[in-house]
Amino acid sequence: MTERIAPAARLRGTLRLPGDKSISHRYAILGALAEGETRIRNYATGADCRSTLQCLRALGTPVETEGDEVVIQGRGLRGLRPSAEALDAGNSGSTMRLLAGVLAGQPFLTRLTGDASLTHRPMDRIVRPLRLMGAHVAAREERFPPLEIRGGPLRAIEYELPVASAQVKSCVLLAGLYAEGRTAVIEPVRTRDHTEVALRQFGADVEIVGRRISVTGWPRLEGRHLEVPGDLSSAAFFIAAALILPESELVIEEVGLNPTRSALLDFLCSMGARIRILNLREQAGELVGDIQVRSSPLRGGVIEKAMTAALIDEIPVLAVLGALSEEGLTVRDAAELRVKESDRIATVAENLRRLGASIETSVDGFYVPGRQKLRGAALASFGDHRIAMAFSIAALAAEGDSLLEGAEAAAVSLPEFFRLLGGLTHSA
Ligand code: S3P
Repeated sequence: MTERIAPAARLRGTLRLPGDKSISHRYAILGALAEGETRIRNYATGADCRSTLQCLRALGTPVETEGDEVVIQGRGLRGLRPSAEALDAGNSGSTMRLLAGVLAGQPFLTRLTGDASLTHRPMDRIVRPLRLMGAHVAAREERFPPLEIRGGPLRAIEYELPVASAQVKSCVLLAGLYAEGRTAVIEPVRTRDHTEVALRQFGADVEIVGRRISVTGWPRLEGRHLEVPGDLSSAAFFIAAALILPESELVIEEVGLNPTRSALLDFLCSMGARIRILNLREQAGELVGDIQVRSSPLRGGVIEKAMTAALIDEIPVLAVLGALSEEGLTVRDAAELRVKESDRIATVAENLRRLGASIETSVDGFYVPGRQKLRGAALASFGDHRIAMAFSIAALAAEGDSLLEGAEAAAVSLPEFFRLLGGLTHSA
C-alpha cells in the first residue's frame, strides 16, 4: 500500500495509544504460564502481539478477546501442549526470542519460524545460552530461524550477555523458570526491564543487583488482571511531529514511562524539547503518565554507549529530528540497528537521501547534519514499521507531498497510525 503524505502545518490534540508492545508480549506469555485466568486491558493492537497470542493458542492455551480485554486461561508452567504446526512469529523478534525461552523448558519439540525479515535476524544469541541450560536447539546455519527446540529439564546458569538485548535477557529468564535453582543474567548495559517487573507481578522471585538479574526456577505463577500502559515507542512518532511542526501542542495520555524506556524524553529535553509529564503514577510496577509536548527548536545531540541501547527503537525518528535540528545528530555504538526489522542504518540513510538530506553512515552509527530542508519524495518502509512511521513524520515536515511505499508495515506495531495522525494534523 502506498500512502500519500502531504506536509502539515501543525499538530494539535489529545491522544491515547494502544498498549506497549513489549509489555503486552510479556503479560500474554506469563498469563499462559500462570495458574488461573489473566485479563489484559489495552493489549497492543499490532500484528506482533497478535503473533504472540496465536503462538500461545497453538500451544494449547485458550486465549479470547472480550470487549477491550484479552482473556487467557493460564495452563501453569507444565500445561503447554505440543503444536503440530510450526509456530509463526511473523515479523516479531520478541515473540520468537521470548517464546524460545519458554519452549526450552517444554518436554516436546517445537518449530518456530517467521516472515522474510525475521528469518534473517540473528538467533545465535539465544541458541547459545539455551544450549548451555540443556535444551536442544537447532537453527538454520546455526544462526537463523526456523528454530527447532526440544526442551526438557534445564540447568540454572549464570550468563553474561554478549549484546545489550532485553529479548535475550528475557529469553534466559523465562527459561530460568524451568531450571532448578537460580538462573542469572548479567547485562553489559541496562535494557528495558519489563520482564523482571512482569515476572514479579505474576509471583516469581526476581532479584536485581546492579546489572545482574536472577530468577528462581519453578515458581507458582498466578493469573492477574492487568492494564497495559500506552506504548512510548509509538508515542515517539507523534511527539516528534509535535516538536517539529510549528504551533503544535499535543497531550498523550496514559503512556508507559518505565525509566528503562523514558530516556527518550530525557534526550529530547536535552535537545531543547518542551515536554512535561503529568499525572505520573505506578501501575503494576510500571510507571504511567501523560505527556504534554509543544513545538520546540531542537539543538541536536549525540547518542552513544548505554544511551544507544536505551533509545534503540527511537533512533529512526530521532534521525529525522536530527536533520531538522540546529546541530544535527550523531549516533554511535548502534550496530544492533543493522539487525532490526530492516537494516535501520541503511534504510534511514536511504530515505533521508530521497528527501534531499545528507547523512554519513558507518558500520555502527551515523551523523545527520542539522538545518537541512526536506523535499517531498518517493519513500519506502522496506517492510519495517518504525521506518514507515518515522518517514511519515519526516514527510509532514517536507516541502511538497511524499509517497510512502509499503506504508502497511506500520500495522506491525500500530495499525491505527495513519488514522490517528490524520486526526491530529492540520494541512499546510
Ligand atoms: C524489545 C527489545 C529490543 C527492542 C524491541 C523490543 C523487547 O530488542 O528493539 O523492539 O520487547 O524486549 P533487542 O532485545 O533485540 O535489543
